[in-house]
Amino acid sequence: MGLWKFSSNSSTSETDDYDPSRLLNIERQGSFDERSLKELSFRLNKAALDDYDVNYSPRSWGHSSPFSSPRSSFEYHPMVADAWEALRESVVSFDGEPVGTIAAVDHASEEVLNYDQVFVRDFVPSALAFLMNGEAEIVKNFLLKTLHLQGWEKKVDRFKLGRGAMPASFKVMHDPSSKRDTLMADFGESAIGRVAPVDSGFWWIILLRAYTKSTGDNSLAESPECQQCMRLILTLCLSDGFDTFPTLLCADGCSMIDRRMGIHGYPIEIQALFFMAMRCALGMLKHDTQGKEIIERMVKRLHALSYHMRSYFWLDFQHLNDIYRYKTEEYSHTAVNKFNVIPESIPNWVFDFMPTSGGYFVGNVSPARMDFRWFCLGNCVAILSSLATEEQATAIMDLIEARWDELVGEMPLKVAYPAIEGHEWRITTGCDSKNTAWSYHNGGSWPVLLWLLTAACIKTGRPQIAMKAIELAETRLSMDSWPEYYDGKLGSHIGKQARKYQTWSIAGYLVAKMMLDDPSHLGMVSLEEYKELNPVLKRSYTCLS
Ligand code: GLC
Repeated sequence: MGLWKFSSNSSTSETDDYDPSRLLNIERQGSFDERSLKELSFRLNKAALDDYDVNYSPRSWGHSSPFSSPRSSFEYHPMVADAWEALRESVVSFDGEPVGTIAAVDHASEEVLNYDQVFVRDFVPSALAFLMNGEAEIVKNFLLKTLHLQGWEKKVDRFKLGRGAMPASFKVMHDPSSKRDTLMADFGESAIGRVAPVDSGFWWIILLRAYTKSTGDNSLAESPECQQCMRLILTLCLSDGFDTFPTLLCADGCSMIDRRMGIHGYPIEIQALFFMAMRCALGMLKHDTQGKEIIERMVKRLHALSYHMRSYFWLDFQHLNDIYRYKTEEYSHTAVNKFNVIPESIPNWVFDFMPTSGGYFVGNVSPARMDFRWFCLGNCVAILSSLATEEQATAIMDLIEARWDELVGEMPLKVAYPAIEGHEWRITTGCDSKNTAWSYHNGGSWPVLLWLLTAACIKTGRPQIAMKAIELAETRLSMDSWPEYYDGKLGSHIGKQARKYQTWSIAGYLVAKMMLDDPSHLGMVSLEEYKELNPVLKRSYTCLS
C-alpha cells in the first residue's frame, strides 16, 4: 500500500485515526495503522512463539509452529469444520441473496421466541468470519438491508422513535403463493420490556468500517445512503439535552444484556461502543456540508468522553483505596468525590477481586451510584477502540490473568462478574427467573465473547491468554452443540435455558481462531490511540494517583 492520500471530501480511504491533519489536504507515508499492525504482528508472533514453546504442544495447536502457514493450522482443528458447517446453516436469504444469520438453529427447542431472527449484534461475529474468509457479499447485503429498515417509521403505541434508531433484529418472511420475501423488524416495540437497542446503530457503524477495511471497497461507506445512515445514528446520540456528563444515558436492557440487570444509567458496554462507533464514523464521514457539523460535535464529544471514562470509570487498587477513603457531601468545584459515592456502598467482593496490579472499567458511574461489577464486552471494546490507554489495556489483561477462575473458569467468558443474589437480585432484576445467580446475563459464561477477548489479547500482545481460553472452549463447545451460555461460578454447566447451535457462539469461535492465525485481521476491529488524547490521558492519570 505505502502512500495513502487524504482529501477533505473522501475520507473512507483512511478509516482509522481521527487525526486533525486529515482535515487538511495532506499526504503522508504509510498509515499509522498499517505500520503498527506490522509491529504488532511481529510482537505477537514472538510472544506466541515464546509462550508456545513453554505451554503448548504441537498436538494441541495443531501444527508445528505458529509461523507455519496460517490456513493449514486453522483448518486442522476438527471443530473448525463443524463450526463452518453450522454457521452456513444459519444463513438467511432475501429474494435469493444472503442477508444475515439467524440467532440460533436449534431444531430441538420447542420455544423459538425470536431466535429465528437476524439480530444486528449477533450478526457481527458472523460477518467478521465471512469477511475473514473473503465472503463479503452477505455483509454488504446485511448493511444495506438494515440501512433500509432504519428508514421505517418506528412507533411504540403512539410514541414515535427517533429517525436514526436501528433494529435489534429482523425476520425474513417468505410468502409461498406470491414467492415474495418480506421483512419484519423489531426496534424495541416487540422486544421483551420494550427497550430500544442502543447498541445496534453502533455495531452497524463498526461493521461498515470492518467491511471497508477488509474489502478495500470504499464505495459503500461513501454512498449517500450510508453517509446519511451514520449521520442519523450519531445525531440521535449527540443531541443537546440536560446532560452534565459526556456519557450516554440509557434504559436498562438496551444492549447485549437485553433485560433488566441494573445496567441503566451509563453502562460501560454502551459507552465503549459509542466511543468506538464515533471513531469509526470519523474515518468514514465525508467533510461535506452535512458531515462537517456532526464531525465537529464528535471530536468534542470524544475528548470529553475519553477523559470522563479514563478518570471516573477506571478502577485499580490505588483508586479503590481512594474511594474507600472518600469524604462525602462535598460541594463546589474543589470536590474530590465528585459523584458523592458513599464508601459504604463498595461491595465487599471488590476488595478480594482487585489484584494489586491490574484494573478495569467499572460497570456504571452516576450520582452516588458506582456499579463495581466487571462487564467483559465493555472492557474488551475499550481496549479495541483505544478508549483504554495502553497502561489501562495492559492492566485489564493483567486482571483477566489474575482472576482467571472467576472470569474464565471452565468456559470462557463471564458476561458480568459477580452474580447478584437474594434481595439484591429481587430488586435489581425484578425477580427475573432467567437471570438467577450465575446464569444467563447474571454471571453466566458466553462463548461468543471469545472473539472479543482474542482481539483484545492480540492488540495488547498477549496471545497466550486467548490460546488458553480457546483451548478450554475446544474441550466441549462443539460436543455440547454450541450453547448460547453456560451456568455456574466456573461456567461448568450448559445454561438452564440456553439455546443450542447459537450462531454467535459458533462464529465467535471461528473469528477467534482466524484472528490468532492471522493477526492482521485485527485491523478490522481495532483502532490505534488518537494522539491528541495523550495530554488528556496524562492529566487523568495524575488525578488517579
Ligand atoms: C438474548 C441475548 C441478546 C441476543 C439475543 C439473540 O436475548 O441477551 O444479547 O442478541 O439473545 O441471540
